[in-house]
Parts: sequence; structure tokens; C-alpha cells
Amino acid sequence: MKFSKLFQRCVDIGIDADVRGRKQIEKTLKKEEKRQAKLEGKEKEFADNERTWNPYSDCRIINGNGNEEIKRLVVGIDIETPEMLLIDRLRAKGEKIDGVLIHHPEGRALADLDKVMDLQVDVLASLGVPVNHSEAHLRPRQDRVWRSIHADNLFRTERAAELLGIPAFCCHTITDNLVWRFIEKTICKKEFDDLGEILNALLEIPEYKEYARKGNPPIIVNGSRNSRPGKITATEFTGGTNGPEDQLIAQSHAGVGTILSMHVTEKTLDEAKKHHVNMVQCSHMASDALGINLLLDILGKEEKQLSTVDISGFIRVKRK
Ligand SMILES: [Fe+2]
Ligand SMILES: [Fe+2]
Repeated sequence: MKFSKLFQRCVDIGIDADVRGRKQIEKTLKKEEKRQAKLEGKEKEFADNERTWNPYSDCRIINGNGNEEIKRLVVGIDIETPEMLLIDRLRAKGEKIDGVLIHHPEGRALADLDKVMDLQVDVLASLGVPVNHSEAHLRPRQDRVWRSIHADNLFRTERAAELLGIPAFCCHTITDNLVWRFIEKTICKKEFDDLGEILNALLEIPEYKEYARKGNPPIIVNGSRNSRPGKITATEFTGGTNGPEDQLIAQSHAGVGTILSMHVTEKTLDEAKKHHVNMVQCSHMASDALGINLLLDILGKEEKQLSTVDISGFIRVKRK
């Protein structure tokens, strides 16, 4: 499959799994297109055209012209210069590798990470948290993320890929949407007597099973195996990065009893304790791997020749 087509298909799959729904997303993209059409001068020069069709600011091609033919893809959760060197080494040893799928954003996908966080407002709205509250909570956190990333050395991985001639793209919120939807469906919508049963259900999922075997199982960070779950949600699975701790309080007020997450900040955990919200920290890497696997299952069905090499925390599990 042509690289640009592969990436466009990934965006499309992300939209299919998005809590906002295709209609709302398309409306936002249209608005952005109209806004950009009116720009002039410097504003026009620096406008990001990608934002008129791709709603995921943390997903984009960071190296390549899009015309490359992709059959064999290296897939990893964190890809930086060392991993690029590994890929180059594998190629030198005879592995045919056409490109790399990076989960955690690099380059411009990282520079624009804060812009994808708006999605959190809609995830929380699906639980009954008023959008005006979530927006007000989210803004200061988004500003902090923007300022903090702004100071990073953002384009090292991109440059390494460029020098080594490795087509590369970031696929972050797209696959986080897929794992969010999967966990909502397979865990959150079901009835459990206690948190212990939730852990057991997670351990039935191959990615969590494999990571547990290696010493990185899902853990309860607030509550106990005997705690009753109440209303379960997976709000911490998608939306760029951790939201502010105010979101935890808002969810508690909206009647949430247990939050499943990939990773929990200490401040959020403190609030969870104060507000008696149970928290399960599912393995971060297993969760990210699960989302990527769901994407690859769809792509693999459409592109029979596509094959992958797992590196950097990713493990390929195929589902029917
Ligand atoms: Fe992720
Ligand atoms: Fe992650």
C-alpha cells in the first residue's frame, strides 16, 4: 500500500472509533478549512494544512514523501534515534523494512500534542460531565503541556529517519481511540462483583496476559480486590496525555466508581483517594500494544501483504 494511503486509512479508522462521531469531526475540519482559507501573510504561511483533514494532531507522517510502497512495517511504542539505528541495522542484515509506525508522538506530532486533548471533553461528556466544566478544567493543563513540550528537542527522531532513509509516521490517538472503545465494550459495559474480577477479566486479554507474565500486570492503585466497582469507565485511555486532576473530581460527581487507566499521575491518585474513586492502572505498554493491534487487524484484512516487525514494547496479537 502506498504510504500516504496507509496513513489516510489509519486516520479514517481512528475517526470510526472516536467518541465524537464522524459528523462532529467533519464539521470541525470544515470550520478549520474555512478559517485557513481566510488567512493572510505570516498566518497563512505557517498554517498547518494537515488540520483540514486529519483531526489527530499527534498523528502524522514525520519522514517520507508518501509515495513509498509499504509492505513490511516496523512497529514500536517509543521510537527514537536508538530504534532508528536498530532498524537500519536490521536492514543491513537483510531484513526488508519499508517504514515504521511510531506510537508515542515525535517531531511535529509531539509539538502539537496539546491540540488533541480537546477530545477528553467529549470522553467525559459521554459520562455526564458538563462540557463547560471539562473545558475550564482542561485549558490550564493544555497550556502547561504546550509550554513544556515547546522546550523539548523535538525533531531528533525525524532527522535520524531522514538521514537513514526510513519512512516514518506517528499513530497515537488513532490507536488510543481503538483501545478506549475496546475496553469500554469488553470491560466497562460488563457487571463485576469486585475489582479482583476486573483484574481477572483484563488478564484474559492476550496483551495484558503477556505483560503480566513478564512482571507488568494490571494493578489496583486505589481500592482493593474486594472493592465493589460501581460505574466503570476507561476515561484515561485516549485524549493525548493525562488530563488535570479536576477531571477525577468531576467524574466522581458524575457517579463514576472505578476508572481504568493506562497511567495515573500522583496528583490524580491523591484525588482518587480523597473522593473514594477506585483506580486500576492497566499496563501502559500492553494497553498501547492492544490499540495498535486493533489497527493492524483492520489494515491487515485490507492489505494482505502487510507484515510487521515488533520492537520497543509492541507485541503483535492477531484477532479475528
Ligand atoms: Fe497510547
Ligand atoms: Fe502511551
